[in-house]
Amino acid sequence: MTAKQNQLEITKPDDWHLHIRDSEIMKAVLPATYRWAARAIIMPNLVPPILTGADARSYASKIKGGIESGVEFEPLLTLYLTQDTQADDVVASYQQGIIKAVKLYPAGATTNSHNGVTDIKKLYPVLAEMSDAAIPLLIHGEVTDPEIDIFDREAVFIEQILQPLRRELPNLRIVMEHITTKQAASYVLNESQNLGATITPHHLILNRNVMLSGAIRPHYYCLPILKRETHRLALIDAATKGDKRFFLGTDSAPHLDGAKIDVCGCAGVFNATFAVEILAQLFDNLGALNNLEGFVSLHGADFYELPYNKEKLTLFKSDTTLEMPKTLQTEDGNITLFDPRMPVYWQILK
Ligand code: NCD
Ligand code: ZN
Repeated sequence: MTAKQNQLEITKPDDWHLHIRDSEIMKAVLPATYRWAARAIIMPNLVPPILTGADARSYASKIKGGIESGVEFEPLLTLYLTQDTQADDVVASYQQGIIKAVKLYPAGATTNSHNGVTDIKKLYPVLAEMSDAAIPLLIHGEVTDPEIDIFDREAVFIEQILQPLRRELPNLRIVMEHITTKQAASYVLNESQNLGATITPHHLILNRNVMLSGAIRPHYYCLPILKRETHRLALIDAATKGDKRFFLGTDSAPHLDGAKIDVCGCAGVFNATFAVEILAQLFDNLGALNNLEGFVSLHGADFYELPYNKEKLTLFKSDTTLEMPKTLQTEDGNITLFDPRMPVYWQILK
């Protein structure tokens, strides 16, 4: 990182948790990410999901077809773990460079997760082969038991699922995706090996009041759900202190406005567009700009054992606030952009 007054040059960032969907929405949302990111871990929860190496290969070529010529952007594909996942296919796909990780959705935990995992213990043999091949497992860490309060589902997952799994397979490399609680942050901090966590911009900036106080604001509804302020503060601590185990995963999850504003509205925040500017402002507000590059550009690459990007990204602090459009128009309809509800002065130098 080099810093002049009001200017900051960092290694080009990556996004370690991203939903880009497919077809028209994919074409519309991709540029929001490759404007600032060199690589992104692409989530496999399409309809139908990315289940096999062959699916991932064909999704990768569709994504590459949606990238403007001259743009260098590398989609890093993942497979969607089900009770039927074949270890041979996972290991071969990883070794051939088709995928970078496997995603575990507990069945019913979130958008398009109904094909997900119902009995993790039965998958231990597959996970053991992943462990031997050093393939990362990315976990949506929430239990789905309807008896458990939605605000407690992450903490309960750690106790009921993650701890037993890590005792059984201590060498399995795991990323706890989009952590939202102080329990998750301290669990990661207390473990020494093979465990990282992504954190989203929205969970760093907002608590649940923004979604529920005075009015219901569906564009802030995501899963795991926004939590109370004490949890947000624990996430801020984790992200801004330079700890290598925490890195950016935007969890940018575009849904058409019609699907969000509905009697049964979808979970997901579309935040890819200005994620870096917003994070620069947040880190600046907290006096932590010197740790921005680690969080957005270095720690994730270290975890995935990938080289740092050679390209740089320069940010500058303007005198005027960044104008953020409210929506992105697509062939299929509008998608509302994440509004961080704070003034953002940092901008990307073109
Ligand atoms: C994601 C989506 O829409 O695919 N939604 C969300 O609220 N984050 C799924 C997920 O990552 O949980
Ligand atoms: Zn996600």
